[in-house]
Amino acid sequence: MKPAILVARAVFPEVLHRLSAHFEVESNQDDVVFTPSELIEKLRGKAGAITTSSARINRELLQQLPNLKMVANMAVGYDNFDVAVMTEFGVKASNTPDVLNETTADFGWALMMATARRITEAEHWLRDGQWHKWRYDYFLGADLHGSTLGIIGMGRIGQAIARRSTGFNMRVIYHNRSRLAPEQEAFANNAQYVSKDEVLRQADHLMLILPYSPASHHTIGAAELAIMKPTATLTNLARGGIVDDKALIVALRNKQIAAAGLDVFENEPKFDPDFLGLNNVVLTPHIASASEATRRAMANCAVDNLIAGLSGATPPNLLTSF
Ligand code: DGY
Repeated sequence: MKPAILVARAVFPEVLHRLSAHFEVESNQDDVVFTPSELIEKLRGKAGAITTSSARINRELLQQLPNLKMVANMAVGYDNFDVAVMTEFGVKASNTPDVLNETTADFGWALMMATARRITEAEHWLRDGQWHKWRYDYFLGADLHGSTLGIIGMGRIGQAIARRSTGFNMRVIYHNRSRLAPEQEAFANNAQYVSKDEVLRQADHLMLILPYSPASHHTIGAAELAIMKPTATLTNLARGGIVDDKALIVALRNKQIAAAGLDVFENEPKFDPDFLGLNNVVLTPHIASASEATRRAMANCAVDNLIAGLSGATPPNLLTSF
């Protein structure tokens, strides 16, 4: 008999087809976002699951699911997993690194450029019928070329963002838990390792792309925003909770920094409605990895991991060790 699995959110139909060759698949093509107790009920008797960041895999859940052997997250971020508890319960965990690096880096640039050059603000104004003449000072923004790009979180996506800055003749400074090897720094447009405060002080454009954990909660709050340049932009591609959204709203309102581009929010999709009253913020609904090819690659990567993990092999992107 094939092992039973749950695909906890909607996916490309061919992914279900691929899974059904190996497993008894319960899918959720209606894309219901299960509550924690609904998720437990859906997972009862299942050997595995494919999840996204809406599914919290923690002690309360695992205590009730003795048959569960593996959960494959369709995301590189896995702050929805309690990996230590999954290890304790002998439940394998995996994520989808690498396949989304370049697509996410492309989007980081799109969001940073839209933010610096006020593209969505200008488009809303045009659509609103307000364009009647050209003026020298309409929508003056900040240049990217020749400026300093500050990156906090210099993993694979951060490095891909840095590499793209060579064409803009930018200087790159970064902060990370650990310094990159010299050859990695050289490849990332000669990125220079500095303290977090120096990134904040010197960056004309700040890019946040670090993983979320209790230790990185509110990496950017009122104190950090206070030392940024008043002309600086901030782009958050990482996770809600990395930035204190309330503090950012105050800083944007008071023009303590020039503008922000946000793809992730605290408590998303219920983001703070005060963002909507601000012109100097570009808001997108957590789509940094959303290219057609990359979302398919992420889904197939999660499937590869689950097939390997439930057949007793080591999944290519295993997060747990036991
Ligand atoms: C990721 O892969 O972590 C993206 O943010 C999608 O959740």
